[in-house]
Amino acid sequence: MAADMQGKVCVVTGANSGIGKETALGLARLGATVVLVCRSQERGAAALAEIEQQSGNDSVSLLVADFSSQRQVRRVAAAFRQQFDRLDVLVNNAALSRRHRAVTEDGVELTLVVNHLAPFLLTNLLLDRLKASAPARVVTVSSAAHKGAEINFADLQGEQSYATFGFGAYSQSKLANVLFTYELARRLEGTGVTANCLHPGVVATAIFRDTPLWLRVGLTLARPFILGSAQGADTVLYLATAPEVAEVSGRYFEKRKPVQSSPLSYDTEVARRLWEVSEALTTASGPAAVGD
Ligand SMILES: NC(=O)c1ccc[n+]([C@@H]2O[C@H](COP(=O)([O-])OP(=O)(O)OC[C@H]3O[C@@H](n4cnc5c(N)ncnc54)[C@H](OP(=O)(O)O)[C@@H]3O)[C@@H](O)[C@H]2O)c1
Repeated sequence: MAADMQGKVCVVTGANSGIGKETALGLARLGATVVLVCRSQERGAAALAEIEQQSGNDSVSLLVADFSSQRQVRRVAAAFRQQFDRLDVLVNNAALSRRHRAVTEDGVELTLVVNHLAPFLLTNLLLDRLKASAPARVVTVSSAAHKGAEINFADLQGEQSYATFGFGAYSQSKLANVLFTYELARRLEGTGVTANCLHPGVVATAIFRDTPLWLRVGLTLARPFILGSAQGADTVLYLATAPEVAEVSGRYFEKRKPVQSSPLSYDTEVARRLWEVSEALTTASGPAAVGD
């Protein structure tokens, strides 16, 4: 039986395309109040119109933030807090993969920022709303790409090695998503707020648009054999809404099933250290941070 999401407030980041848009649409179809967090006003407004039209739900709104800017992440969190007094589901979905190394306005490597530090910061800034709305859920879209990665604390921002086409930075950020989820789940024990992450499958989206031409051609040729965005959103929606996982926390899912993530992802010392480094890089430990 489909979950009834009437009265629930859900935030989906990166909601204007691919898996995020399908997730937002699925939540809207279930009757939730859905807040799309998008980088572009124009693309976000187009997605909002489409989602409202397809779901028949007009409780969909848009907040704009470029996650490469911590100032914008803070601003969007403040705007959300001003407009909504509860948060039932936070879906951390937005991510990118970049071929060449870039540094943000905060002086930090772009992939690490958008894929890990931005969701880390946003989650922390909204945590009191989640706790006050418990039972509540944080769902973070990771990737099986995390399995080949390690957290290179000596060169976390790829200054010495920005591996082939940025895949090293991407897979490190996806491992960070898993470590973050597990550490968050430990810190949230007993609060009624769960934290889970997932691999959505290999999905035909725009995520690898900034890759060499031959790779994009290969991905285009492979399209008939890979999942559509709606299929990619299936496990995200499952974790965000299904009654049977309401009390499951600190797990990594594929195809709606909890499965093992990489051995390194279970290293609590690495997770604790990554949390501390992430706090230092975002100065997240303000009044809305975990534990306050
Ligand atoms: N596709 C796959 O095969 C696959 C496999 C494993 C995991 N995943 C994960 O699935 C999630 C969704 O990706 P997708 O495949 O659906 O790709 P996508 O269609 O490219 O969606 C990515 C979303 O993130 C947003 N985003 C990118 N940079 C941003 C920034 N600086 N600030 C704010 N938002 C930003 C994009 O906005 P714009 O449209 O404005 O760029 C877009 O809405 C990601 O976490 C990805 O790592 C995907």
